Amino acid sequence: MKRPYDMARPVPPEALADLATQVAAPRRFGGTSAPDQVAAIRALAWRAWRTEATTEAAHLESVDLMRMGRDAVAAQPDGISIYGPGLDEAVAAGQITREAMLPGRPGYDIMVARYAPMLEATPAYVWTSTPGNSRAEALASGRDWLRLNLAATGLGLSLHPVSQALQEFPAMAEHYAEAQAMLGQGGTVQMLGRLGYGPAVPPTPRWPAATRIRPA
Ligand SMILES: Cc1cc2nc3c(=O)[nH]c(=O)nc-3n(C[C@H](O)[C@H](O)[C@H](O)COP(=O)(O)O)c2cc1C
Repeated sequence: MKRPYDMARPVPPEALADLATQVAAPRRFGGTSAPDQVAAIRALAWRAWRTEATTEAAHLESVDLMRMGRDAVAAQPDGISIYGPGLDEAVAAGQITREAMLPGRPGYDIMVARYAPMLEATPAYVWTSTPGNSRAEALASGRDWLRLNLAATGLGLSLHPVSQALQEFPAMAEHYAEAQAMLGQGGTVQMLGRLGYGPAVPPTPRWPAATRIRPA
């Protein structure tokens, strides 16, 4: 969930132990709520986030998938939905547009102002890794992540991927290497996410599943 989490409510070790059972060997689960380790991952996640946001080609990949404002989200319920209190007003005022999402423009500043405190308010992280980095391992990690997300939700926790440091483009290489060394557990990190107690939020707007499945 893309919200600040409650920093007065630590994630108990039992919750991390519970989540760990969702990932079967040879894939590996990692998780921490230890303040020093959380601080190190948070700093890396923020450096990587800023690197993506200031690398125009990488940033525009996300911008191109943004649905800006309630009407656009309703018309095309996929991609990155930008709507809700504060955001709909900024869209209506012309502060959030595709062009305004570049550094130095108002939409970019709104994005930074939302993400900085959000990523800061993170009391725990979880991650997964695989021995190799095959397509099959990546798909299995995707299934693990969905199970982790459901299990976290079942525990009253919120989970939010922070993928920037795991991306493979030249400007990210230094952060990628740091993430692999810090979290790879001898293999390749597949997912990294913030974990904590967040506010209740509505489901992400999505197309009905039946409209995405082609009859045989
Ligand atoms: C593989 C994957 C990577 C993601 N990486 C990020 C990310 O780096 N930053 C972010 O804000 N959201 C990221 N998202 C989170 C999605 O935006 C999130 O899933 C979306 O809000 C939908 O929520 P839901 O999956 O709980 O319905 C990622 C999602 C997936 C599936």
